[in-house]
Amino acid sequence: MLKNKHIALYISGSIAAYKAASLTRLLVKAGAIVRVIMTTAATNFITPLTMQTLSKHFVYPQQITTADAPVAHIALADWTDIAIIAPATANIIAKMANGIADDFATTALLATTAAKFVVPAMNEHMWNNPATQHNLTTLRTNGVTIIEPTVGFLAEGYAGKGHMREPSDIVNYVASATMPALLANKKVLISAGGTKEPIDPVRYITNRSSGKMGYALAQVAQQMGAQVTLVSASTLPTPPGVTIHKVTTAQQMQTAMNDNFKQNDIVIMAAAVADYRVLHVATQKIKKTTDNDQLNLKLVKNPDILATLSQQKTHQYLVGFAAESQNLLANAQKKLINKHVDMLVANDISAKDAGFNSDNNRVTVLRPHQASQVLLLASKQQIAKEILTIISNEIKNKKPCD
Ligand code: C5P
Repeated sequence: MLKNKHIALYISGSIAAYKAASLTRLLVKAGAIVRVIMTTAATNFITPLTMQTLSKHFVYPQQITTADAPVAHIALADWTDIAIIAPATANIIAKMANGIADDFATTALLATTAAKFVVPAMNEHMWNNPATQHNLTTLRTNGVTIIEPTVGFLAEGYAGKGHMREPSDIVNYVASATMPALLANKKVLISAGGTKEPIDPVRYITNRSSGKMGYALAQVAQQMGAQVTLVSASTLPTPPGVTIHKVTTAQQMQTAMNDNFKQNDIVIMAAAVADYRVLHVATQKIKKTTDNDQLNLKLVKNPDILATLSQQKTHQYLVGFAAESQNLLANAQKKLINKHVDMLVANDISAKDAGFNSDNNRVTVLRPHQASQVLLLASKQQIAKEILTIISNEIKNKKPCD
Protein backbone atom coordinates (compact mmCIF):
# COMPACT_ATOMS: atom_id res chain seq x y z
CA MET A 1 0.00 0.00 0.00
CA LEU A 2 3.03 2.17 0.36
CA LYS A 3 4.19 1.39 -3.18
CA ASN A 4 6.08 4.35 -4.71
CA LYS A 5 5.20 6.56 -1.74
CA HIS A 6 7.94 9.05 -0.87
CA ILE A 7 8.73 8.46 2.77
CA ALA A 8 11.11 10.66 4.76
CA LEU A 9 12.28 8.78 7.86
CA TYR A 10 13.64 11.11 10.56
CA ILE A 11 15.80 9.42 13.19
CA SER A 12 16.57 11.25 16.43
CA GLY A 13 18.91 10.32 19.28
CA SER A 14 17.39 7.44 21.22
CA ILE A 15 18.66 3.91 21.81
CA ALA A 16 15.60 2.76 19.82
CA ALA A 17 17.38 4.21 16.74
CA TYR A 18 18.65 0.69 15.97
CA LYS A 19 15.04 -0.29 15.16
CA ALA A 20 15.04 2.32 12.38
CA ALA A 21 17.15 -0.15 10.37
CA SER A 22 14.41 -2.80 10.25
CA LEU A 23 11.78 -0.10 9.80
CA THR A 24 13.63 1.07 6.68
CA ARG A 25 13.84 -2.49 5.35
CA LEU A 26 10.12 -3.05 5.84
CA LEU A 27 9.23 0.26 4.17
CA VAL A 28 11.46 -0.55 1.18
CA LYS A 29 9.96 -4.05 1.02
CA ALA A 30 6.50 -2.47 0.96
CA GLY A 31 7.55 -0.60 -2.20
CA ALA A 32 8.17 2.83 -0.65
CA ILE A 33 11.02 5.13 -1.70
CA VAL A 34 12.77 6.02 1.52
CA ARG A 35 15.03 8.96 2.36
CA VAL A 36 16.63 8.98 5.78
CA ILE A 37 17.42 12.07 7.84
CA MET A 38 19.48 11.69 11.01
CA THR A 39 20.12 14.15 13.81
CA THR A 40 23.69 14.37 15.09
CA ALA A 41 22.62 12.53 18.28
CA ALA A 42 21.09 9.72 16.19
CA THR A 43 24.47 9.07 14.50
CA ASN A 44 25.86 8.14 17.94
CA PHE A 45 23.43 5.21 18.09
CA ILE A 46 23.40 3.91 14.50
CA THR A 47 25.67 4.72 11.58
CA PRO A 48 24.58 6.68 8.52
CA LEU A 49 26.26 3.96 6.42
CA THR A 50 23.79 1.37 7.74
CA MET A 51 20.87 3.62 6.88
CA GLN A 52 22.35 4.56 3.49
CA THR A 53 22.80 0.90 2.59
CA LEU A 54 19.25 -0.03 3.59
CA SER A 55 17.54 2.99 2.02
CA LYS A 56 19.80 2.90 -1.09
CA HIS A 57 20.30 6.65 -0.85
CA PHE A 58 22.66 8.96 1.01
CA VAL A 59 21.56 10.04 4.47
CA TYR A 60 20.63 13.68 5.04
CA PRO A 61 22.41 15.93 5.87
CA GLN A 62 25.58 13.84 5.48
CA GLN A 63 26.35 14.27 1.79
CA ILE A 64 24.50 17.36 0.69
CA THR A 65 26.86 19.27 -1.61
CA THR A 66 27.43 22.99 -1.30
CA ALA A 67 25.40 23.43 -4.47
CA ASP A 68 22.39 21.67 -2.87
CA ALA A 69 22.75 23.21 0.55
CA PRO A 70 20.65 26.37 0.23
CA VAL A 71 17.56 24.43 -0.86
CA ALA A 72 18.08 20.80 0.16
CA HIS A 73 15.70 20.93 3.14
CA ILE A 74 12.93 22.46 1.01
CA ALA A 75 13.50 20.00 -1.85
CA LEU A 76 13.23 17.13 0.63
CA ALA A 77 10.18 18.68 2.32
CA ASP A 78 8.39 19.08 -1.02
CA TRP A 79 9.37 15.57 -2.20
CA THR A 80 7.86 13.94 0.91
CA ASP A 81 4.44 12.23 0.89
CA ILE A 82 4.77 10.84 4.42
CA ALA A 83 7.18 11.88 7.19
CA ILE A 84 7.88 9.35 9.93
CA ILE A 85 9.84 10.47 12.98
CA ALA A 86 11.09 7.24 14.58
CA PRO A 87 12.40 7.17 17.17
CA ALA A 88 11.14 10.58 18.24
CA THR A 89 12.84 11.86 21.41
CA ALA A 90 11.22 14.28 23.87
CA ASN A 91 13.60 16.88 22.42
CA ILE A 92 12.54 16.58 18.75
CA ILE A 93 8.88 16.44 19.85
CA ALA A 94 9.39 19.69 21.78
CA LYS A 95 11.05 21.33 18.78
CA MET A 96 8.31 20.22 16.39
CA ALA A 97 5.56 21.41 18.75
CA ASN A 98 7.18 24.82 19.07
CA GLY A 99 8.36 25.36 15.50
CA ILE A 100 12.03 25.28 16.42
CA ALA A 101 14.24 24.64 13.40
CA ASP A 102 17.87 24.53 14.49
CA ASP A 103 19.27 21.68 12.40
CA PHE A 104 18.59 19.98 9.05
CA ALA A 105 15.96 17.53 10.42
CA THR A 106 13.86 20.10 12.29
CA THR A 107 14.16 22.63 9.46
CA ALA A 108 12.89 20.11 6.89
CA LEU A 109 10.13 19.02 9.30
CA LEU A 110 9.01 22.63 9.71
CA ALA A 111 8.96 23.04 5.94
CA THR A 112 7.08 19.89 4.99
CA THR A 113 3.30 19.85 4.56
CA ALA A 114 3.28 16.02 4.27
CA ALA A 115 1.37 13.75 6.69
CA LYS A 116 3.51 13.31 9.81
CA PHE A 117 3.73 10.26 12.08
CA VAL A 118 5.65 10.72 15.33
CA VAL A 119 6.82 7.50 17.01
CA PRO A 120 8.08 8.41 20.48
CA ALA A 121 10.72 6.46 22.40
CA MET A 122 11.91 7.68 25.78
CA ASN A 123 12.11 7.08 29.50
CA GLU A 124 8.71 6.76 31.21
CA HIS A 125 9.28 9.84 33.39
CA MET A 126 10.18 11.93 30.34
CA TRP A 127 7.03 10.63 28.62
CA ASN A 128 4.85 11.52 31.63
CA ASN A 129 6.42 14.95 32.10
CA PRO A 130 3.70 17.61 31.65
CA ALA A 131 5.92 19.46 29.16
CA THR A 132 6.13 16.39 26.89
CA GLN A 133 2.40 15.70 27.22
CA HIS A 134 1.64 19.34 26.43
CA ASN A 135 3.88 19.17 23.34
CA LEU A 136 2.17 15.95 22.18
CA THR A 137 -1.25 17.62 22.57
CA THR A 138 0.00 20.54 20.46
CA LEU A 139 1.21 18.16 17.75
CA ARG A 140 -2.12 16.25 17.72
CA THR A 141 -3.98 19.57 17.43
CA ASN A 142 -1.72 20.44 14.49
CA GLY A 143 -2.79 17.23 12.71
CA VAL A 144 0.28 15.14 13.52
CA THR A 145 -0.39 11.45 14.28
CA ILE A 146 1.30 10.09 17.40
CA ILE A 147 1.96 6.34 17.31
CA GLU A 148 2.04 5.93 21.08
CA PRO A 149 4.77 3.95 22.83
CA THR A 150 3.88 0.77 24.68
CA VAL A 151 4.72 -0.44 28.14
CA GLY A 152 7.86 -2.49 27.73
CA PHE A 153 11.37 -3.13 28.94
CA LEU A 154 13.28 0.16 28.76
CA ALA A 155 17.03 0.52 28.26
CA GLU A 156 17.20 1.77 31.89
CA GLY A 157 16.56 -1.83 33.00
CA TYR A 158 12.94 -1.58 34.11
CA ALA A 159 9.54 -1.77 32.46
CA GLY A 160 7.63 1.42 31.72
CA LYS A 161 5.70 3.32 29.08
CA GLY A 162 8.11 4.70 26.53
CA HIS A 163 8.96 1.58 24.55
CA MET A 164 8.92 2.41 20.83
CA ARG A 165 6.40 0.48 18.72
CA GLU A 166 7.80 -2.42 16.71
CA PRO A 167 8.73 -1.59 13.09
CA SER A 168 6.03 -3.92 11.67
CA ASP A 169 3.37 -2.13 13.76
CA ILE A 170 4.61 1.26 12.53
CA VAL A 171 4.44 0.17 8.87
CA ASN A 172 0.95 -1.26 9.39
CA TYR A 173 -0.22 1.90 11.15
CA VAL A 174 1.09 4.18 8.40
CA ALA A 175 -0.30 1.91 5.64
CA SER A 176 -3.74 1.85 7.36
CA ALA A 177 -3.77 5.63 7.64
CA THR A 178 -3.15 5.96 3.92
CA MET A 179 -5.66 3.24 2.93
CA PRO A 180 -9.30 4.11 2.17
CA ALA A 181 -11.55 2.75 4.96
CA LEU A 182 -13.57 0.64 2.52
CA LEU A 183 -14.34 -2.05 5.08
CA ALA A 184 -15.07 0.10 8.15
CA ASN A 185 -17.62 -1.64 10.45
CA LYS A 186 -17.28 -4.92 8.53
CA LYS A 187 -16.27 -8.25 10.02
CA VAL A 188 -14.08 -10.42 7.82
CA LEU A 189 -13.25 -14.10 8.34
CA ILE A 190 -10.35 -15.55 6.34
CA SER A 191 -8.76 -18.99 6.20
CA ALA A 192 -5.12 -19.37 5.16
CA GLY A 193 -2.32 -21.90 4.73
CA GLY A 194 -2.14 -25.56 3.89
CA THR A 195 -3.73 -27.99 6.34
CA LYS A 196 -1.63 -30.86 7.69
CA GLU A 197 -3.20 -34.31 7.98
CA PRO A 198 -1.35 -36.62 10.39
CA ILE A 199 -0.16 -40.10 9.40
CA ASP A 200 1.48 -40.96 12.73
CA PRO A 201 3.04 -38.92 15.56
CA VAL A 202 5.94 -37.96 13.25
CA ARG A 203 4.58 -37.56 9.72
CA TYR A 204 1.81 -35.73 7.98
CA ILE A 205 0.39 -35.01 4.51
CA THR A 206 0.34 -31.38 3.44
CA ASN A 207 0.62 -29.17 0.34
CA ARG A 208 2.75 -26.31 -0.99
CA SER A 209 0.55 -23.46 0.22
CA SER A 210 2.47 -20.86 2.29
CA GLY A 211 -0.56 -18.90 3.48
CA LYS A 212 0.88 -15.64 2.08
CA MET A 213 -2.23 -14.77 0.02
CA GLY A 214 -4.61 -15.31 2.96
CA TYR A 215 -2.34 -13.32 5.28
CA ALA A 216 -2.12 -10.46 2.77
CA LEU A 217 -5.94 -10.41 2.59
CA ALA A 218 -6.14 -10.34 6.40
CA GLN A 219 -3.59 -7.54 6.70
CA VAL A 220 -5.13 -5.36 3.98
CA ALA A 221 -8.71 -5.94 5.24
CA GLN A 222 -7.56 -4.81 8.70
CA GLN A 223 -5.91 -1.74 7.15
CA MET A 224 -9.20 -0.99 5.35
CA GLY A 225 -10.91 -0.78 8.73
CA ALA A 226 -12.38 -4.29 9.06
CA GLN A 227 -12.39 -6.43 12.19
CA VAL A 228 -10.50 -9.48 10.94
CA THR A 229 -10.40 -13.08 12.17
CA LEU A 230 -7.82 -15.35 10.58
CA VAL A 231 -8.12 -19.14 10.78
CA SER A 232 -4.63 -20.21 9.96
CA ALA A 233 -2.76 -23.40 9.20
CA SER A 234 0.36 -21.36 8.41
CA THR A 235 3.35 -20.39 10.57
CA LEU A 236 3.66 -16.84 9.19
CA PRO A 237 3.73 -14.02 11.78
CA THR A 238 0.23 -12.75 12.66
CA PRO A 239 -0.55 -9.41 10.97
CA PRO A 240 -0.98 -6.59 13.54
CA GLY A 241 -4.56 -6.07 14.73
CA VAL A 242 -5.82 -9.42 13.43
CA THR A 243 -7.42 -12.08 15.69
CA ILE A 244 -5.84 -15.45 14.99
CA HIS A 245 -7.06 -19.04 15.45
CA LYS A 246 -4.33 -21.56 14.73
CA VAL A 247 -5.39 -24.91 13.32
CA THR A 248 -3.60 -27.90 11.84
CA THR A 249 -6.10 -30.22 10.14
CA ALA A 250 -9.04 -29.66 7.78
CA GLN A 251 -11.46 -30.81 10.48
CA GLN A 252 -10.07 -28.26 12.96
CA MET A 253 -10.32 -25.60 10.26
CA GLN A 254 -13.93 -26.52 9.63
CA THR A 255 -14.79 -26.22 13.35
CA ALA A 256 -13.10 -22.80 13.58
CA MET A 257 -14.80 -21.53 10.40
CA ASN A 258 -18.22 -22.80 11.56
CA ASP A 259 -17.79 -21.20 15.00
CA ASN A 260 -17.04 -17.80 13.47
CA PHE A 261 -19.18 -17.87 10.33
CA LYS A 262 -22.44 -16.37 11.63
CA GLN A 263 -21.03 -13.13 13.00
CA ASN A 264 -18.95 -12.24 9.91
CA ASP A 265 -19.96 -10.21 6.84
CA ILE A 266 -17.27 -11.37 4.42
CA VAL A 267 -15.85 -14.91 4.48
CA ILE A 268 -12.84 -15.80 2.34
CA MET A 269 -11.55 -19.39 2.07
CA ALA A 270 -7.99 -18.79 0.86
CA ALA A 271 -6.68 -21.93 2.58
CA ALA A 272 -5.46 -24.96 0.66
CA VAL A 273 -7.48 -27.61 2.46
CA ALA A 274 -6.34 -31.23 2.12
CA ASP A 275 -9.01 -33.08 0.16
CA TYR A 276 -8.23 -36.35 1.98
CA ARG A 277 -6.97 -37.38 5.42
CA VAL A 278 -5.56 -40.66 6.71
CA LEU A 279 -8.41 -42.90 7.88
CA HIS A 280 -6.52 -44.60 10.73
CA VAL A 281 -3.83 -42.33 12.19
CA ALA A 282 -1.16 -44.54 13.81
CA THR A 283 -0.66 -43.83 17.51
CA GLN A 284 3.00 -44.91 17.29
CA LYS A 285 5.61 -44.12 14.64
CA ILE A 286 5.18 -46.43 11.63
CA LYS A 287 8.38 -48.50 11.25
CA LYS A 288 9.84 -49.56 7.93
CA THR A 289 10.00 -53.31 7.56
CA THR A 290 12.53 -55.39 5.65
CA ASP A 291 9.93 -57.69 4.10
CA ASN A 292 7.63 -55.04 2.60
CA ASP A 293 8.60 -52.50 -0.09
CA GLN A 294 5.19 -50.86 -0.11
CA LEU A 295 3.12 -49.11 2.48
CA ASN A 296 -0.56 -48.43 1.85
CA LEU A 297 -2.33 -45.59 3.57
CA LYS A 298 -6.10 -45.54 3.36
CA LEU A 299 -7.40 -42.01 2.85
CA VAL A 300 -10.87 -40.68 3.50
CA LYS A 301 -12.41 -37.53 2.04
CA ASN A 302 -12.34 -34.34 4.12
CA PRO A 303 -15.45 -32.18 4.33
CA ASP A 304 -15.61 -29.39 1.73
CA ILE A 305 -15.65 -26.47 4.18
CA LEU A 306 -16.54 -23.86 1.56
CA ALA A 307 -19.47 -25.87 0.21
CA THR A 308 -20.86 -26.45 3.72
CA LEU A 309 -20.48 -22.74 4.58
CA SER A 310 -22.42 -21.76 1.46
CA GLN A 311 -25.34 -23.87 2.75
CA GLN A 312 -25.41 -21.85 6.00
CA LYS A 313 -25.12 -18.50 4.21
CA THR A 314 -27.44 -15.69 5.31
CA HIS A 315 -25.99 -12.19 4.72
CA GLN A 316 -22.36 -13.25 4.21
CA TYR A 317 -20.41 -12.48 1.05
CA LEU A 318 -18.60 -15.76 0.41
CA VAL A 319 -15.35 -16.07 -1.53
CA GLY A 320 -13.46 -19.19 -2.61
CA PHE A 321 -10.07 -19.68 -4.22
CA ALA A 322 -9.20 -22.21 -6.91
CA ALA A 323 -5.61 -23.30 -7.47
CA GLU A 324 -5.44 -24.93 -10.89
CA SER A 325 -2.59 -26.36 -12.92
CA GLN A 326 -4.66 -26.73 -16.14
CA ASN A 327 -7.92 -25.46 -17.70
CA LEU A 328 -7.89 -22.65 -15.16
CA LEU A 329 -11.02 -20.76 -16.15
CA ALA A 330 -13.21 -23.76 -16.99
CA ASN A 331 -12.39 -25.47 -13.67
CA ALA A 332 -12.81 -22.26 -11.71
CA GLN A 333 -16.16 -21.53 -13.34
CA LYS A 334 -17.38 -25.00 -12.30
CA LYS A 335 -16.34 -24.34 -8.68
CA LEU A 336 -18.08 -20.96 -8.69
CA ILE A 337 -21.35 -22.70 -9.55
CA ASN A 338 -20.94 -25.97 -7.60
CA LYS A 339 -19.84 -24.31 -4.35
CA HIS A 340 -22.47 -21.53 -4.58
CA VAL A 341 -20.06 -18.71 -3.79
CA ASP A 342 -20.32 -14.99 -4.57
CA MET A 343 -16.78 -14.83 -5.91
CA LEU A 344 -14.15 -17.29 -6.98
CA VAL A 345 -10.51 -16.24 -7.33
CA ALA A 346 -8.65 -18.44 -9.80
CA ASN A 347 -4.93 -18.97 -9.37
CA ASP A 348 -2.76 -20.52 -12.10
CA ILE A 349 -0.26 -22.53 -10.06
CA SER A 350 1.75 -23.61 -13.13
CA ALA A 351 3.12 -20.03 -13.47
CA LYS A 352 6.76 -19.75 -12.39
CA ASP A 353 6.56 -16.12 -11.25
CA ALA A 354 3.43 -16.29 -9.08
CA GLY A 355 1.25 -18.48 -6.90
CA PHE A 356 2.42 -20.94 -4.24
CA ASN A 357 5.02 -19.56 -1.85
CA SER A 358 5.70 -16.56 -4.11
CA ASP A 359 5.36 -12.97 -2.88
CA ASN A 360 3.48 -12.19 -6.10
CA ASN A 361 0.28 -13.38 -7.68
CA ARG A 362 -1.76 -13.09 -10.86
CA VAL A 363 -5.42 -14.10 -10.59
CA THR A 364 -8.75 -14.05 -12.37
CA VAL A 365 -11.83 -12.99 -10.42
CA LEU A 366 -15.08 -14.78 -11.34
CA ARG A 367 -18.57 -13.78 -10.16
CA PRO A 368 -21.95 -15.22 -11.17
CA HIS A 369 -23.46 -13.48 -14.22
CA GLN A 370 -20.53 -11.07 -14.60
CA ALA A 371 -17.54 -10.94 -16.93
CA SER A 372 -14.35 -12.33 -15.43
CA GLN A 373 -11.72 -9.83 -14.33
CA VAL A 374 -7.98 -10.42 -14.64
CA LEU A 375 -5.73 -8.94 -11.95
CA LEU A 376 -2.25 -8.61 -13.45
CA LEU A 377 0.98 -9.79 -11.79
CA ALA A 378 1.53 -7.80 -8.59
CA SER A 379 2.50 -8.29 -4.95
CA LYS A 380 0.05 -10.37 -2.92
CA GLN A 381 -0.69 -7.20 -0.89
CA GLN A 382 -1.67 -5.36 -4.06
CA ILE A 383 -3.78 -8.30 -5.31
CA ALA A 384 -5.44 -8.43 -1.87
CA LYS A 385 -6.23 -4.72 -2.10
CA GLU A 386 -7.80 -5.18 -5.55
CA ILE A 387 -9.86 -8.21 -4.47
CA LEU A 388 -11.11 -6.45 -1.31
CA THR A 389 -11.94 -3.29 -3.27
CA ILE A 390 -14.09 -5.38 -5.66
CA ILE A 391 -15.77 -7.08 -2.67
CA SER A 392 -16.47 -3.74 -0.95
CA ASN A 393 -18.14 -2.46 -4.16
CA GLU A 394 -20.19 -5.66 -4.48
CA ILE A 395 -21.44 -5.33 -0.90
CA LYS A 396 -22.28 -1.65 -1.40
CA ASN A 397 -24.31 -2.44 -4.52
CA LYS A 398 -26.02 -5.48 -3.03
CA LYS A 399 -29.75 -4.99 -2.49
CA PRO A 400 -31.20 -6.53 0.70
CA CYS A 401 -33.16 -9.07 -1.37
CA ASP A 402 -30.07 -10.30 -3.35
O1 C5P B 1 -12.27 -27.98 -4.82
P1 C5P B 1 -11.06 -27.17 -4.54
O2 C5P B 1 -10.22 -27.71 -3.43
O3 C5P B 1 -10.22 -26.83 -5.72
O4 C5P B 1 -11.67 -25.77 -4.05
C1 C5P B 1 -10.89 -24.73 -3.61
C2 C5P B 1 -11.68 -23.88 -2.68
O5 C5P B 1 -12.46 -24.66 -1.78
C3 C5P B 1 -10.80 -23.02 -1.79
O6 C5P B 1 -11.48 -21.84 -1.47
C4 C5P B 1 -10.61 -23.92 -0.57
O7 C5P B 1 -10.29 -23.16 0.58
C5 C5P B 1 -11.96 -24.57 -0.45
N1 C5P B 1 -11.93 -25.94 0.10
C6 C5P B 1 -12.62 -26.21 1.26
N2 C5P B 1 -12.62 -27.47 1.78
C7 C5P B 1 -11.99 -28.46 1.14
C8 C5P B 1 -11.30 -28.23 -0.06
C9 C5P B 1 -11.29 -26.95 -0.55
O8 C5P B 1 -13.20 -25.28 1.83
N3 C5P B 1 -12.01 -29.67 1.66
